[in-house]
Amino acid sequence: MNKKIRGLLLAFLIQYFGISGFLQAQDQQQGFINLDCGLQANESPYTEPTTKLTFTSDADFIKTGKSSRIQNVPGVTQGTNYLIVAMFVYGNYDDLNAHPKFDLYLGPNIWTTVDLQRKVNGTRAEIIHIPRSNSLQVCLVKTGTTTPLISALELRPLRDDTYIPQSGSLKNLFRVYLTDSKDTIRYPEDVHDRLWSPFFMSDWELIRTSLPVDTSDNEYDIPEDVLATAATPGNVSAPLTISWNLETPNDLVYAYLHVAEIQDLRDNDTREFNISAGPNVSYGPVSPEESQVYNLFNTSPVKCQGVICHLQLIRTQDSTLPPILNAIEAFTSLEFPQSETHANDVAAIKSIEKSYGLSRISWQGDPCVPQQFLWDGLTCEYTNMSTPPRIHSLDLSSSELTGLIVPEIQNLTQLQKLDLSNNNLTGGVPEFLAKMKSLLVINLSGNNLSGSVPQALLDKMGLNLNIQGNPNLCSSSSCNKKKNSIMLPVVASLASLAAIIAVVTLLLVCCIKKGPSRGKGLSPSQPSIETKKRRFTYSEVLTMTNNTERVLGKGGFGMVYHGYINGTEEVAVKLLSPSSAQGYKEFKTEVELLLRVYHTNLVSLVGYCDEKDHLALIYQYMANGDLKQHLSGSSFMSWIDRLNIAIDAALGLEYLHIGCKPLIVHRDVKSSNILLDDHFQAKLADFGLSRSFPVGDETHVSTLVAGTPGYLDHEYYQTNRLSEKSDVFSFGVVLLEIITNKPVIDQTREKPHIAEWVKVMLTRGDITNVMDPKLQGVYDLGSAWKALELAMTCVTPSSLERPNMSHVVHELKECLISENKRTRDIVTTRSLDINLSFGTEVSPKAR
Ligand SMILES: *[C@@H]1O[C@H](CO)[C@@H](O)[C@H](O)[C@H]1NC(C)=O
Ligand SMILES: *[C@@H]1O[C@H](CO)[C@@H](O)[C@H](O)[C@H]1NC(C)=O
Ligand SMILES: *[C@@H]1O[C@H](CO)[C@@H](O)[C@H](O)[C@H]1NC(C)=O
Ligand SMILES: *[C@@H]1O[C@H](CO)[C@@H](O)[C@H](O)[C@H]1NC(C)=O
Ligand SMILES: *[C@@H]1O[C@H](CO)[C@@H](O)[C@H](O)[C@H]1NC(C)=O
Ligand SMILES: *[C@@H]1O[C@H](CO)[C@@H](O)[C@H](O)[C@H]1NC(C)=O
Ligand SMILES: *[C@@H]1O[C@H](CO)[C@@H](O)[C@H](O)[C@H]1NC(C)=O
Ligand SMILES: *[C@@H]1O[C@H](CO)[C@@H](O)[C@H](O)[C@H]1NC(C)=O
Ligand SMILES: *[C@@H]1O[C@H](CO)[C@@H](O)[C@H](O)[C@H]1NC(C)=O
Ligand SMILES: *[C@@H]1O[C@H](CO)[C@@H](O)[C@H](O)[C@H]1NC(C)=O
Repeated sequence: MNKKIRGLLLAFLIQYFGISGFLQAQDQQQGFINLDCGLQANESPYTEPTTKLTFTSDADFIKTGKSSRIQNVPGVTQGTNYLIVAMFVYGNYDDLNAHPKFDLYLGPNIWTTVDLQRKVNGTRAEIIHIPRSNSLQVCLVKTGTTTPLISALELRPLRDDTYIPQSGSLKNLFRVYLTDSKDTIRYPEDVHDRLWSPFFMSDWELIRTSLPVDTSDNEYDIPEDVLATAATPGNVSAPLTISWNLETPNDLVYAYLHVAEIQDLRDNDTREFNISAGPNVSYGPVSPEESQVYNLFNTSPVKCQGVICHLQLIRTQDSTLPPILNAIEAFTSLEFPQSETHANDVAAIKSIEKSYGLSRISWQGDPCVPQQFLWDGLTCEYTNMSTPPRIHSLDLSSSELTGLIVPEIQNLTQLQKLDLSNNNLTGGVPEFLAKMKSLLVINLSGNNLSGSVPQALLDKMGLNLNIQGNPNLCSSSSCNKKKNSIMLPVVASLASLAAIIAVVTLLLVCCIKKGPSRGKGLSPSQPSIETKKRRFTYSEVLTMTNNTERVLGKGGFGMVYHGYINGTEEVAVKLLSPSSAQGYKEFKTEVELLLRVYHTNLVSLVGYCDEKDHLALIYQYMANGDLKQHLSGSSFMSWIDRLNIAIDAALGLEYLHIGCKPLIVHRDVKSSNILLDDHFQAKLADFGLSRSFPVGDETHVSTLVAGTPGYLDHEYYQTNRLSEKSDVFSFGVVLLEIITNKPVIDQTREKPHIAEWVKVMLTRGDITNVMDPKLQGVYDLGSAWKALELAMTCVTPSSLERPNMSHVVHELKECLISENKRTRDIVTTRSLDINLSFGTEVSPKAR
């Protein structure tokens, strides 16, 4: 090697080998795979007369689709260097005389375009490639109107120490031996079945030897017949030049030159030459000795001048003889950047396919890539090309599946969404579904599953589980009810009398809610006894409010006045403006709901008035107004006060979401709807927009999106799909208000919306700029961070990623605990230790 030339792109290596008596195997080489793609299965196998190679039909390995045809090559060994040859000959088999043009893919990556309109006599594509797995897929992708075809596919294992590019694979441009013969050479002369074409130029001089050239120890196994002839330039002082064209100027080229001195040299003869590929790329001198085979190639790729490559062998001044060349191969470097789908996901989906006996046309090749041939029913996550894609969702709904929910599903470890609805699946709902960490949506509706849903699955936070339409499956609510009644004695033996009463009250509330009275309600013809009792006349309302003397505020659909019932009980009376038709609907909703629910953190309805045009709602009086006033006013609210208010409001919402069946979505959670009583206990108010719908129908589509700007969940706004997670979003906004005491929307801010603004502030890393300055830094930092993080997860754009209210309550209590630790001596009026998740107050009138 010449050390003088540094930093050159081309670094040719010389390898030469001695002579030995190695006998070449003449049998079919081990590891050859030959597929004839037109053979009928019953004609297979046959022996090709010239090469004596045995071809088999591809019928067992092929799957045919509309847009692509995929050849699954069996018996491929991962990590083996293969010469892969695909052949294409159009014999007008379809009588259309339409010469096809299409793309050829190797796995998820494009290999080449096959154009039989230009190559009417057929063409071949060849690549030297190391498969990354034990299967290799060759895909023919229809790109126009013509139908792709493949005539034969051959795989030949090569030695692992030959043909190694710096990266990628080697796409063959040509392989010639320099001769005046007309014969191509391949197997059995070439043990690897490379195809050597004859090539010669008129201004060359041919050298031929009749003596055998022993190549037996040459790693590249160049056939003797290929080396038996060579070319030298006719003008002995001129270089030997070979030129060829590239497809694109950016192609990177590898050249393999095979040289053997086949001339009988005299003592005073020397042959020495340099190799050059453009002004910057040269190597030499080379001085081939007799009886030795030289394989010269560049180890790093070379760029040619534009689309033309010139390779020259230049005689040195010391040389008495011109340069010599026996054979040459040229390749371009082909990168296969797209990773195949993660092997575990591929194995899992294939075993699911097998277990359910699926045979879907698109389920061929790699599941996720190329993306245009993604298997239907799947979605995948594509991080970048070098990261194997992962399967994110699997939709096998209405696929006539029978049998059990197969355990192979759990091997799709990144699965977020699983839809097995509308099949004939039987057996139980498996426990493993609860252990699949990333699962967010499971739809098992419309099957024949039985048993009960595992508790772990029901308990899983943030999971959207649909099990409707499984008549033999014990649904979540009925299972829970049974559990509750069994649990009751245990609770009784442990808890205080007050707690027992509370539980009994809750069960009673549940029972009544589930009873026939649920219906439409508030129909004047059949009002319940209770509703009658709470119904007031308009004149009673006027007396109550002393002719609307004291205004408390202005609500969504009218003014709110202060009043007394029986001269002592303080109430707030909302009078609805008579003209509003919309108002009547909200009014009805609110009455129906509030008569149905009872919770210490929900404003309770004392009564109502429904007299022709006069509509009024009479609530318990909340002496301390609403949260918004307190935040914006001059009064001081400590961090503990704020956490307590947040917990109260969260408990109220949790009750609506979990304690009520069917669940209730408030739809208008905001700081001005969180009212404070004389003990600063917070209660959720204003149920005018609330919606109630059965469990299992969580993604209720509402025709009219309602809510308050700033608090309105964008996902709900965009999709019209209402779920309790919309309330979680709004609650998150309220929590941000509580923490920051900043307006929800402020156009003068760099980010008008509070959530966006907090996000920006947090990326700058300073929590003190986010916290309400009125707190003057008096709070436990951990507690503040936790509350902030919780608020931010509540306002995540995707409802699936938001926590449920039980989680919110739990986290807020943790915040309170750390803040309490800080103050140590804190004595709160309310107990933290609420074992029941809702409703510890005993109601005199259970509803
Ligand atoms: C195809 O083969 C025919 C007959 O051998 C020949 O005349 C013609 O030139 C060939 N066409 C091409 C494009 O090679
Ligand atoms: C032979 O090649 C040399 C160098 O390229 C050139 O100078 C000379 O003219 C050539 N001779 C003939 C006869 O072409
Ligand atoms: C080499 O030697 C031969 C005789 O053996 C002679 O004819 C020839 O001219 C010599 N060539 C050179 C370049 O000296
Ligand atoms: C050769 O190298 C010089 C200097 O590094 C550079 O400017 C020139 O573009 C190169 N030419 C080619 C053909 O790569
Ligand atoms: C051949 O290469 C050597 C060094 O590798 C250099 O000294 C010599 O000039 C080159 N000769 C030609 C004709 O390029
Ligand atoms: C691809 O993504 C992975 C994981 O995020 C990262 O480590 C890697 O650097 C990325 N590669 C490229 C080329 O962007
Ligand atoms: C389930 O099986 C029954 C009886 O085998 C059949 O009638 C019904 O169509 C199947 N349902 C589905 C959704 O495949
Ligand atoms: C899941 O994959 C592991 C290997 O990754 C395999 O051993 C196991 O059998 C697979 N489980 C199922 C149920 O397919
Ligand atoms: C569950 O599947 C059923 C039937 O395919 C569909 O109607 C329903 O919308 C799905 N539910 C969810 C939550 O995806
Ligand atoms: C559902 O499964 C039960 C047994 O668990 C069976 O008796 C019943 O016929 C099945 N129903 C349908 C519609 O396949």
